[in-house]
Amino acid sequence: MIDFHTHILPGMDDGCKSVAESLWMLRQEQQQGVDTVVLTPHYYPWENSPEEFLARRSRAWEALKKQLPEDSPRLLLGAEVHYFEGIGSAPQLKMLRIFGTDLLLLEMPFARWTQRMVEDLLECASTPNIQVVLAHAERYFSLQPKAIWPRLRSSGIWMQSNVSFFSSWKTRYQAMRMLQRGEIQFLGSDCHRQHWRAPNWDTLPPKIAGNLQSTRHLEPVWETVQV
Ligand SMILES: [Fe+2]
Repeated sequence: MIDFHTHILPGMDDGCKSVAESLWMLRQEQQQGVDTVVLTPHYYPWENSPEEFLARRSRAWEALKKQLPEDSPRLLLGAEVHYFEGIGSAPQLKMLRIFGTDLLLLEMPFARWTQRMVEDLLECASTPNIQVVLAHAERYFSLQPKAIWPRLRSSGIWMQSNVSFFSSWKTRYQAMRMLQRGEIQFLGSDCHRQHWRAPNWDTLPPKIAGNLQSTRHLEPVWETVQV
């Protein structure tokens, strides 16, 4: 399984604070059946320029890399990029894609999106060599008009859902229906720390976990990107 959304890289954001904590989280991922982990620290445009963020990320990666065990899950560097006005035409956007891919994990504001935000999002989606993946898409469902979702999908925007969308009894039926319809391309734990939002693949009901593994919905998508 691929964990597409994590805050495991140490010292970057509100995720892991030390290499030791990162290593603990990676062991948990492995024990829970994850073989590929995408490292997606928050990129907040009001805190860092993309260049500063990437320099910080390199330092964190170098520190972690030195202590990785040989059998560590496969790791890919990425970012969870927060929306900012004009993002659709920002020249540095490509620097923030998941390493070796066109995938841009994008976090939108937790409020009803303005017309400007939607336009920016659609502009992002139409940028060559950018494949927008909306981070934890389910968190926006109740905030936006229903009609927006078919529009975003037909614009080629992909969706990432959190494990909790599948493990909560309140939302799991909707989650499975969406997965079966091909409306969710990636799953992520969105894990942060050892004692706060740890990897939670083991919270999936066995039937759903088995379904996710046996149907392998997400793997073909992964094969289509150049890693
Ligand atoms: Fe996140």
